[in-house]
Amino acid sequence: MSQIWVDGKAFKVEKDKNLLETILSLGFDLPYFCWHPALGSVGSCRQCAVRKYQDKEDQKGQIVMACMEPVLDDLYISIEEKEVADFRKNVIEWLMVNHPHDCPICDEGGECHLQDMTVMAGHNYRRSHYKKRTHNNQDLGPCINHEMNRCIQCYRCVRFYNDYAGGDDLQVFAAHDHVYFGRHEDGTLESEFSGNLVEVCPTGVFTDKTLKEHYTRKWDLTSAPTVCQHCSLGCNILAGERYGSLRRILTRFNAEVNGYFICDRGRFGYDFVNGEERIRSAASKEDGAWRHLEKADALNHLSKIVEKRKVMGVGSPRASLESNYALRKLVGENNFFNGIAHKENQLLQQALDFLQRGPVKTPSLKEIENCDAVIVIGEDLTNTAPLIDLALKQSVRVQPLEKLDKIGVPPWNDSAARDYIQDEKGPLYIFTPQETKLDKIATKCFRDSPRELARMVTAIAGQLDAAIPVEGIPEPGILKEIAKVLVQAQRPLVIAGTSLGSTTLLNSAINLANALHQGNSKACISFIFSECNSVGVGMMETKGLEDAIQSESQYDTLIVLENDLYRRQTQTLINNFLDRFKNIIVLDHTQSQTTSRADLLLAAGTFAEADGTMVNNEGRAQRFFQVQAADEAVQEGWRWILQAGKLLNNELLKGVNGLDELIGSIENELEQFKGISKAGPLSGYRINGQKISRAPHRYSGRTAMFADLQVNEPRPPQDPDSPLSFTMEGYQGIPPESATSFYWSPGWNSAQAINKFRNEIASGRQQGSPGVRLIEHTSGEEKYQYLECLPEDHPEPGEWKLVPIHHIFGTEELAQNPQLFQIEVQDLP
Ligand code: SF4
Ligand code: SF4
Ligand code: FES
Repeated sequence: MSQIWVDGKAFKVEKDKNLLETILSLGFDLPYFCWHPALGSVGSCRQCAVRKYQDKEDQKGQIVMACMEPVLDDLYISIEEKEVADFRKNVIEWLMVNHPHDCPICDEGGECHLQDMTVMAGHNYRRSHYKKRTHNNQDLGPCINHEMNRCIQCYRCVRFYNDYAGGDDLQVFAAHDHVYFGRHEDGTLESEFSGNLVEVCPTGVFTDKTLKEHYTRKWDLTSAPTVCQHCSLGCNILAGERYGSLRRILTRFNAEVNGYFICDRGRFGYDFVNGEERIRSAASKEDGAWRHLEKADALNHLSKIVEKRKVMGVGSPRASLESNYALRKLVGENNFFNGIAHKENQLLQQALDFLQRGPVKTPSLKEIENCDAVIVIGEDLTNTAPLIDLALKQSVRVQPLEKLDKIGVPPWNDSAARDYIQDEKGPLYIFTPQETKLDKIATKCFRDSPRELARMVTAIAGQLDAAIPVEGIPEPGILKEIAKVLVQAQRPLVIAGTSLGSTTLLNSAINLANALHQGNSKACISFIFSECNSVGVGMMETKGLEDAIQSESQYDTLIVLENDLYRRQTQTLINNFLDRFKNIIVLDHTQSQTTSRADLLLAAGTFAEADGTMVNNEGRAQRFFQVQAADEAVQEGWRWILQAGKLLNNELLKGVNGLDELIGSIENELEQFKGISKAGPLSGYRINGQKISRAPHRYSGRTAMFADLQVNEPRPPQDPDSPLSFTMEGYQGIPPESATSFYWSPGWNSAQAINKFRNEIASGRQQGSPGVRLIEHTSGEEKYQYLECLPEDHPEPGEWKLVPIHHIFGTEELAQNPQLFQIEVQDLP
């Protein structure tokens, strides 16, 4: 630790850390633009100036950019000194010379870092009377709006898009005061991470085009902390609502998971919540036609159907832990099936077994960024786990960046670091059947069928442990080299998953990680699964969909929870399966082929109208909170089931009335879920006796919003299952990270207000990152046996063996918004 003095006050801080970051961490307000906690410093905007003194006696000092300075022992600086304060004010005045001052019609208005910094720096009046420079804007596709006149040339956009996220179709063009940030011509931004520009750009150049469709100012949004539903990584997000419709998704910072970023599927794939396909009330089918049912009637109908019948329950990896568990309780453990197709369930169980009983750790996304040698087996990560793609773009820099020590450049000095390492990349090996977008940063790529890839991976494992038979594996040369690189790395990582549906390939990856761990105890393995709660449902250790299909026909009633079975098995198989039941009850939020087969349809809430828990690919249980009160006829899957259980006097659900009790019951009954109650605050949590507000104190229009329907202000919606209030009444300070609904602090209205929510900007808040890791590797006392890697059958001559190809905007069920993400077949790789 070092002692520094800021305007005469002493502070103990971490040595060599970035000075700007340190000043912000200490709670000071110091304007900045080009610095970003994840992107580091380039010192280009000259906004973060401070005066630095040689020692206590020095009265003169010099103006320096805080973002380019390290923390040193006995450092004396001033933020308030007049000349440096004027310097910052002048810099912003220059930046504003060409700015259009169109805040009232700018989508960024009210959450704009430029507005905040202008006020903070004290620039109040425009003195320039000259004509402003103007630019033409571009059509950048359906997600991002472009308004170049608002640019202040901070270069954050291209630094994120190109340097950090590896894109190459957004560039800076021209020179002097004509620099232009855009594409070489109009066209949809190609990066899967383009949506982060909305938060990275400190002004209104890049804004969310989907929000524009139903625009709402930040202060008028009701927001809630929730978890992305579109892949197994469980990125943390903030959802914003107004008038009962979901308006936008922003990143919610989680130092261990997604950090400051999310992918475009997570950001823009929310339309299913508002979509026309939504199921908004219960209905029963009579003579082939739907008949609307009131909630009470639907519950009575449900209990009548279920009473005294033999009921089968089919759960879902896209439904919460609580909903799956409640259904399991309602129908009884033996009658519950997790709704995952056989092959995938098998792979999921195998991977979970290795994670739970094996010696190899599964890393968080943050830890993946720090792995220094990576082998990807069978996963097209850009499409199956986008944020791991982004993490690997950082991990390939880990080895080259080690050299920085030699020249005394800290890693946060981004420009110097990039200049020094140039295009050098650390080891990344990719084994997939098809080209992937990560190939361009890979050391070597191997293209073959899953069967052949598994043979190669086995050959690498065989180099690490002679106990693994490698007979008949061709060309060990490069594979031998890969084995050596992995075993010599500081933190080697194996990435595999279920997306190709190949047991041989998954087993070969597990064997490789197992063998690697014997030579390098720091080795880790990361598994990719297909859905947001695959791991949670997998950990319930229940039978899969095929077990349900093959079960004896003792059941006459079926309850399907948030699951389109037709996506998991052939049409004929599912038709035959469903034909067996007299009554089919489906709980879901979106119409599907399965909902069309229901006799009774119950409207389940989407994540936007539900509280619950999901478990991500690393086994981290994360709580999500509803952002909007559901319509009267819509409620969480688990709530429908609890209410039905009550009507039926179900013994197994006795005493379970709400989310807290459900969570408690899960913890009591299933050892593997111990700790999920700590994934987020329970309903009784209060700060200073108050609930935590979902709406900021500037929320407006509350008394007028529904005046066309009712002139007196309606009672605010109630949420008995969480410590969050739906209105601005409640605690407005800094809540626990897992219950943070929005980032706002006096003078900080933009996403950058996150600074004020963190004790330590670079490493998360002191309370720890949200979520609870349920899976930890064993100490390795008992050896994990190598798995059999029986090669899959070769296709007969003239036969083709198909492998699934995934697409970020095509494969996942909920984000297939037809308008936003239309995909031409020829666009697929
Ligand atoms: S477009 Fe935005 S992020 Fe890019 S340089 Fe301009 S102000 Fe900065
Ligand atoms: S990586 Fe996955 S969890 Fe994260 S935002 Fe994208 S789709 Fe959502
Ligand atoms: S933030 Fe320091 S120069 Fe831009």
